[in-house]
Amino acid sequence: MKFFVDSADIEEIGELADTGLIDGVTTNPSLIAKSGRNFLDVIKEICTVVDGPVSAEVTALDSATMLKEAAVLRGLAENVTIKVPLTMDGLKTCKALTDDGASVNVTLCFNANQALLAAKAGATYISPFIGRLDDMGIDGMELIEEMREIYDNYDFETEILAASIRNINHVKSCALIGADVATVPGSVIKQLAKHPLTDKGLEGFMADWAKTGQSIL
Ligand code: G3P
Repeated sequence: MKFFVDSADIEEIGELADTGLIDGVTTNPSLIAKSGRNFLDVIKEICTVVDGPVSAEVTALDSATMLKEAAVLRGLAENVTIKVPLTMDGLKTCKALTDDGASVNVTLCFNANQALLAAKAGATYISPFIGRLDDMGIDGMELIEEMREIYDNYDFETEILAASIRNINHVKSCALIGADVATVPGSVIKQLAKHPLTDKGLEGFMADWAKTGQSIL
């Protein structure tokens, strides 16, 4: 499973990119607003820090204007993925862009029929929002399962990019189901490496190593 960072915070992205564990980045208008920075500048900067796909979302609601915005965003860097909303206009834009060789992430997907349409529109990625479904008392993971089954039934190449991930259990379930990508907040990525027994074990090893009085270097 690929890991994207769901963030527009360049410091956080840089720190995680340095680990070599990150395959891409997703942003959205809310994350851009949170960064307090200019949208185009932030995307350009992220694209220099990360080699993989960087999702930048159009903000128009009609296809004609989405396409104009997409042209601007595609001009920022080679690795920009255009993010479009899961509306009829977004799907139309997706089809036009992927026919033209662009990488497209269809976002705000909340059911399997929407995911089916995104695949038919040739989406590179489809972003189901797990956490926001959980918030409504609907099991977000069931959607990932349904999507995996439908996409496999027809050999759709669209990658399932699990989004709105809120905790480490979401990540594990996505990996078990076979999501292609998980876009994860930096704080959750860091938690994935944590286990109290790892900390305790390391503490013990360090204490015993100190007793030997040795040093590797
Ligand atoms: O990038 C979209 C997505 O991950 C949003 O997450 O936590 O705002 O539902 P959240």
